[in-house]
Amino acid sequence: MTSDTNSKAGAPISAPMPKDWIMAIHAYVPGKSKTDDGRSVAKLSSNENPFGTGDDARAAWNSAADSLERYPDSANSELREALATRFGLDPARVICGTGSDEVLHMAAGAFAGPGDEIIYSRFGFSVYPIATRRVGATPVVAPDKDYATDIDAILAQVTDKTQLVFIANPNNPTGTFTPRAEIERLHAGLPRNVLLVIDQAYSEYLAPEDDDGGLELARTQPNVLVTRTFSKIYGLAAARVGWGYGHADLIAAMNRIRQPFSFSIAASRAAVAALTDTAFVERSAAHNVEWRGWFEDQIAALGNKGLRAVPSKANFSLVLFEGETSAETAYKGLMDAGYIVRWLPGQELPHGLRITIGTPEEMTGLIAALRKIVGAS
Ligand SMILES: Cc1ncc(COP(=O)(O)O)c(C=O)c1O
Repeated sequence: MTSDTNSKAGAPISAPMPKDWIMAIHAYVPGKSKTDDGRSVAKLSSNENPFGTGDDARAAWNSAADSLERYPDSANSELREALATRFGLDPARVICGTGSDEVLHMAAGAFAGPGDEIIYSRFGFSVYPIATRRVGATPVVAPDKDYATDIDAILAQVTDKTQLVFIANPNNPTGTFTPRAEIERLHAGLPRNVLLVIDQAYSEYLAPEDDDGGLELARTQPNVLVTRTFSKIYGLAAARVGWGYGHADLIAAMNRIRQPFSFSIAASRAAVAALTDTAFVERSAAHNVEWRGWFEDQIAALGNKGLRAVPSKANFSLVLFEGETSAETAYKGLMDAGYIVRWLPGQELPHGLRITIGTPEEMTGLIAALRKIVGAS
């Protein structure tokens, strides 16, 4: 007997059957690094640091070339200690992962499963639906408020099945920011058994007065996890280093499903070095504020062509095309001109392009190309 009677249609099954909830996932679509015809051009599609990687981090990475035969420290002790020193945290409550993506997946894996609900905002980070469905939980999408996260809409979706809320702050792909008072209101409105995950992948781009209070909540509350990454301002996307901070009980649960070994020794050393290279971080943040402001002004000047930029606090800008020129036309035109940006039809944003703030040459060149495409010059 080679057939399997588990087939839903009653027909024999001749191959392993993935779970229904896995097949409901739309696989993650990464930013392109080459044009459709294979040219390597300006990559403004993945929110990476235009300055590359700091010298200290690169030297630390290179110093690990002679230990490739060794497993890394399973406990990530060196990096957890360094993070604790840098941010005033308890190292025992830091968890590391291969990118903050893995930390997000561990949060869903430890706290949700079939029958549970996970809430996130309509234009939330695209990994949230994947992390939710992967564990068989049900995604619940809260409507946005002009592309921004709507706290009342999230709270209105809470049921007795809600296990977790994901919120990115600033959010990707919109760049929108939820202020501290609103984050506190969200936390106060959630039942104590619901885990609030505050994804701060872009927090280093914020001005100090824009601290959303996430780390303070994670320090003091039993149901808040903050996640951060070395992929953005620290310029270490290839190293795949992310981390989370929360109550010891949250971290203990997540540690049960953590991979035995995470990122490499080189990655760990690079991250530790990057943490203390404050000059690199400050230079990156200052460049971002200056050129994001310039870019938003340039888009505002194209308002008569139907373009507008959603106000951003991150290292990218979501540009909406509400006039004659479609986002798709602009996306293709920019690619022809040598600029790869992110067109987001799969995230209900067929009218939007997410554009990373790059070098001055990239930004001025991109705007010149965009003006031609929309017929402004
Ligand atoms: C909001 C947000 N969270 C998390 C991540 C994951 O970053 P990584 O896995 O590289 O740490 C990203 C990456 O784009 C992001 O935009």
